[in-house]
Amino acid sequence: MISAFIITFFYKSKKAYLARKITFFMEYWEKRFLEGGKIWGEKPSKTAIHALELFRKHEVNKILVPGAGYGRNTKLFTDANLEVVGIEISEPAINIAKKFNPKAHFFQGSVLNMPFDDEKYDGIYSCNILHLFLKDDRISFLKKCYKQLRVKGFAFFVVFSDKESSFGKGRRVEENTYESKPWRAAHYFTENDLKEHFKEFLVVETGIIEDTENHGELGPHTHILRYIFAQKK
Ligand SMILES: C[S@@+](CC[C@H](N)C(=O)[O-])C[C@H]1O[C@@H](n2cnc3c(N)ncnc32)[C@H](O)[C@@H]1O
Repeated sequence: MISAFIITFFYKSKKAYLARKITFFMEYWEKRFLEGGKIWGEKPSKTAIHALELFRKHEVNKILVPGAGYGRNTKLFTDANLEVVGIEISEPAINIAKKFNPKAHFFQGSVLNMPFDDEKYDGIYSCNILHLFLKDDRISFLKKCYKQLRVKGFAFFVVFSDKESSFGKGRRVEENTYESKPWRAAHYFTENDLKEHFKEFLVVETGIIEDTENHGELGPHTHILRYIFAQKK
């Protein structure tokens, strides 16, 4: 009886915690896109250009883009005639994306609640979202991505590396994970750590790409991003 009560309480509080976290993400990203619009400009990330080269080489035609933002990267892919579905939590970002990249289809919601359809994709491109989650959510998100790929489908993920200038700053919440603001954590990946996250996949390629941005209080700055290109077995 007592243990049933404890389990129910734990389950409910875990669900409540997850709901609070998703609400936080929604509010944080809604505000950022309402205030900043196309925060990172209209050009795609350099990582998307490299992902497109690899997708073409491996005949990837239909891709899922979790954390699509306002579509700066999805547009590169639809312009190259790929079929693109994005998932994005922020309504203001989706409103911009639908105008900026009408050829892509967007679902509004949290990637932690995937799937949003029954499709199997040839590829997944995900830029700068995996590192926003704590370990349990990172693993759960990657499992959901794995399920949405067809057998032998490809995943290209971009994350903050341990070479970022912000690495180690703020409150430490987990190994290599720091909160610059409350609830705003970032995980900084070493190469081995990134490969370990993709241990269910066959790792094809990893690397570092420097991506320069110019926005907000930071002004011009360069991110030292890590990417992984991996294949579902
Ligand atoms: C750093 S931005 C990168 C956006 C886009 N990938 C790009 O490179 O332009 C992170 C994106 O993930 C979205 N996001 C954050 N948490 C999310 C979640 N739980 N589910 C879906 N999208 C989320 C944010 O709204 C934001 O658009």
